[in-house]
Amino acid sequence: MSPNKAAYKTLISQCLALLEGEPSLVANLANLSAALKHSNGWHWVGFYLVDDARDELVLGPFQGPVACTRLHKGKGVCAAAWETATAQIVPNVHEFLGHVACSNDTNSELVIPVQSRGRVVAVLDIDSVEFDAFSSSDVEALKPLIEAIEGSWNQWEA
Ligand code: SME
Repeated sequence: MSPNKAAYKTLISQCLALLEGEPSLVANLANLSAALKHSNGWHWVGFYLVDDARDELVLGPFQGPVACTRLHKGKGVCAAAWETATAQIVPNVHEFLGHVACSNDTNSELVIPVQSRGRVVAVLDIDSVEFDAFSSSDVEALKPLIEAIEGSWNQWEA
């Protein structure tokens, strides 16, 4: 289940506080993954980063079961968010053509692109064991956090 409006508000404030004054990309994405994952019952929360040299997504900081290390263009929900630069809300991953099943327990998924200087640099991926766990309300609630990440991305040290 996603947090309700008030819980999301508290969660986003906590997340923004975690980012304050910290220039490490890895530390920030790791703590955000932990804060989001442990705030509720989501199965997996993490980031995939755009690897420009290989034109792939590579696994970044996450919380949850071991996941696929690399994701390729044209296949899966994360790649769709990357390639279209739009959030992907997938109520039933088994019906998403090309879905990459890193965990058999995932039934629905939300992937939000993170953009910097006009291009997608990463995606935030949230997986749930429930079907239909996400809606546009989640995208809206997470927006201030995504914007904070986008605003700091170029100042953060990889
Ligand atoms: N399901 C994703 C792959 C990443 S895992 O869910 C952690 C996809 O189809 O892109």
